[in-house]
Amino acid sequence: MCFQMSNPVPYRAQLGNLRVFQPDADDKLTTIMAVRAAFGMLGDVELDREHLRPDERRLSVADGDTIIGGCFAYAYRMSLPGGADVPVAGLAGVGVSPDAQGRGAFRPLLEGHIKQSAALGDAASILMASESGLYGRFGYGQATDMAVWQLDVRDFALQSGFETAAGRMLLLDNVEDTIARVAPVHEAACRRRGGDVLRDAEWWPLVLGAAKRSWFGGGPQFVAAWENPAGELDAYALYVLEDVADDAGQPGTPANRLTIRELVARSVDAETALFAALCRVSWVREVVWELAPVDPPVKNRMTDPRQLRQHRRLDMSWLRPLDPAALLTGRHYLSDGQVVIDYSDPVLPSRSGVMELTVTDGVPSISPADPTPEAVTLRPDTLGQLLLGGTRVLELVESGHVTGSVAALRALDRLLLTERAPFNLTKF
Ligand SMILES: CC(C)(COP(=O)(O)OP(=O)(O)OC[C@H]1O[C@@H](n2cnc3c(N)ncnc32)[C@H](O)[C@@H]1OP(=O)(O)O)[C@@H](O)C(=O)NCCC(=O)NCCS
Repeated sequence: MCFQMSNPVPYRAQLGNLRVFQPDADDKLTTIMAVRAAFGMLGDVELDREHLRPDERRLSVADGDTIIGGCFAYAYRMSLPGGADVPVAGLAGVGVSPDAQGRGAFRPLLEGHIKQSAALGDAASILMASESGLYGRFGYGQATDMAVWQLDVRDFALQSGFETAAGRMLLLDNVEDTIARVAPVHEAACRRRGGDVLRDAEWWPLVLGAAKRSWFGGGPQFVAAWENPAGELDAYALYVLEDVADDAGQPGTPANRLTIRELVARSVDAETALFAALCRVSWVREVVWELAPVDPPVKNRMTDPRQLRQHRRLDMSWLRPLDPAALLTGRHYLSDGQVVIDYSDPVLPSRSGVMELTVTDGVPSISPADPTPEAVTLRPDTLGQLLLGGTRVLELVESGHVTGSVAALRALDRLLLTERAPFNLTKF
């Protein structure tokens, strides 16, 4: 996804024997091989997604003359609370070949990525972590969570008055027309929650249409949609069915599990209507919603909400602020207020400083301020965790990660509250 300017000066840094640099075509392939080894990948190298990873967002790390690893980033746009979006780097493929791990390549590689992305104008870098202990040290904060929900459909019923969306469920073919119809629903849903990555025309075929299932999505799946009486889509779902009866494949009572891969809607009413319709699909006994928000509104509309069981909850995306002012003024606020923040970024010192965040009539502004002992102290990892509203300020105060005067901490806590939990549906 190429939305942004290209970096005029390719990144280079030397730390002892270790060299971090933007690879040319030959070094790119060697780097891909080293990273594949890091991820334990064997078999044919698939280069069909490489065009989604811009050259100016790639880095290699070499020990002497030998390339031992690297990383790349997607040029994404990410929604903020309130519906605006900012450019972000979607960091992925961070790896050091197993025979070269433990030599200290991780930090120069990550710092290179942070400086490279800041130079390209990104407001933040985001990633999905293979292990949750890896990235806090580089200023990434756990920003969005995902949940897996499970329900026996015989326990599903809505409180009266809540199945109100007019329209009907229909199945769509898994083709280009479908992408054109569901993409606007996805974008509208992204803007209803902070932290969601917008998908462009190059990304959609990975999710819908790819014959083979991959980490990004695709493969055989049903596409269901909720169409309103005007013929527009208000929600869509990607799902698969499997028979999970003890005697599966034998004649008897069919007992299917319907696994929702994506359920995306313009409104709570449309989401409820499509979820209810999926629960009514013939032979379905169990619904599993495998990549879902932690606060699905349908739960509060059920007569017996406990029956929608949270099977798992996991960190989804980690956020590393690069331009704190752009992030803080890009999101919306539910209340007015004023707070002084003392922000320090050891990798990007020019982004550090004492600033005053003021929200007046819902409009935020940032201005430089004098140091004061009252200020709330934030680092990139704590701001990354708090920015989208997934964690409350007072929670990080309690755990000793954020300090300041009681009045300032309460003011920031109130300011950063959001209507709904942030969420990111796009795996990368
Ligand atoms: C994660 C990885 C890139 C680290 O590279 P590396 O060159 O071995 O790391 P370094 O030698 O620079 O170690 C840097 C620090 O990270 C720590 N570290 C390394 N791997 C770690 C892990 N799996 N969990 C926790 N800490 C880890 C080291 O202990 C070291 O800590 P210190 O700075 O406090 O001494 C490498 O282990 C790898 O390629 N892993 C497999 C692929 C992967 O999981 N990538 C991350 C994808 S999100």
